[in-house]
Amino acid sequence: MPLSRRAILITGASAVVIAGAGWALTRAPNAARAPWRKASEGFGDPRLDILAYAILAPSAHNMQPWRIRLDGDDAFSIYCDRARLLPENDPLNRQITISFGCFLELARLAAAEKGFRLDIDPFPLGEPQPLLDERPVALVRLIEDAAQPPDPLFSEALSRRTNRSPFDMEKPVADADLLAIVRAAPSDVIPRASSDPLLVEALRALTVDAWRVEWTTPATRRESVITTRIGKAENNAAPYGLSVIGAPMDALKAAGVLTREKMDQPGTTAYEQSLSFYEKACETAAAFAWIKTAANTRGDQLAAGRAWMRMHLAANARGIAFHPLSQALQEFPEMAQLYARMHETLGATNGETVQMLSRLGFAKAPPPVPREPLLSKLVSA
Ligand SMILES: Cc1cc2nc3c(=O)[nH]c(=O)nc-3n(C[C@H](O)[C@H](O)[C@H](O)COP(=O)(O)O)c2cc1C
Repeated sequence: MPLSRRAILITGASAVVIAGAGWALTRAPNAARAPWRKASEGFGDPRLDILAYAILAPSAHNMQPWRIRLDGDDAFSIYCDRARLLPENDPLNRQITISFGCFLELARLAAAEKGFRLDIDPFPLGEPQPLLDERPVALVRLIEDAAQPPDPLFSEALSRRTNRSPFDMEKPVADADLLAIVRAAPSDVIPRASSDPLLVEALRALTVDAWRVEWTTPATRRESVITTRIGKAENNAAPYGLSVIGAPMDALKAAGVLTREKMDQPGTTAYEQSLSFYEKACETAAAFAWIKTAANTRGDQLAAGRAWMRMHLAANARGIAFHPLSQALQEFPEMAQLYARMHETLGATNGETVQMLSRLGFAKAPPPVPREPLLSKLVSA
């Protein structure tokens, strides 16, 4: 995946950041963040209340590919909005399917909190291959169940963030925390985490290399650039995709330094700083966590997403910053060599697939990034 978003440091930024602090405070894209508030307020309807949390799930490039159809009084179906696929970075729709797994797990946690069990039927009309199609990703039924125990991970749902800041190199992640993160995953996937210095060093280098391939390959870079929203107005107008938010970003945009055209143009400040921003992120990993699956069916990808959601929430509960780094796991041809090296490095042998990889460490949490309102994600039959 891509460049970021919240905190690109553009050399010479101060030269164009001329506005005062008062103006800076008005730059928050509050409308785009409203769904984070709406989840805790609720809609007064159990199904919508559960879905209000589910739409806060992480998704590849924040594409929020879900379309939700309410069925009868107690069920809903989830479909993929195929306008939200990422054909260059995610040519097999694997990451988008994982995103649906995150959505379903967050729905399950919210349901348990409200005294419901979810009966989830994945791909009820068959697994779409080689690409996702118009068939449902899942049918979900709510079953009232007073015996359903709440899950402590739910309390992390509103504060969970993808954190792309450099991590504190002086602060190691404790083994007990790594173990807790791994144990948060169910047994239908193979979760792992490590702070072994040799492995961490190898993974830092591999993730940097893979990022360079993704960013310097025109098709994958362009896809990320097109989905990037720069500044308050763009994020409020289209609250999905990659977000570059904050007063300095608005100022750089106004000055013509940070534009999508410049980001896509080698040699410009926007292009080069995007490259080095993400490199810095990879280089400051204190530890890594990952998930492998024995096979790579759509069901495995959904299971990986559900487990990933839990690992991310478990990390959050321990104050550990979490940043997925998917570049070397992507299936476009220019990445093939690094894909193989990553699989070898993580011991993915005998056909295992590494579904997700994240760096772990410590850094101040960023504010929430945009979400589309729940009601805009509902579709009729
Ligand atoms: C399948 C998947 C792959 C992801 N890969 C990356 C990645 O390579 N780099 C990255 O910065 N974020 C990655 N993310 C994080 C998303 O960009 C992030 O969830 C989204 O922008 C929303 O932000 P949030 O998690 O803070 O709510 C990934 C998320 C998912 C679900």
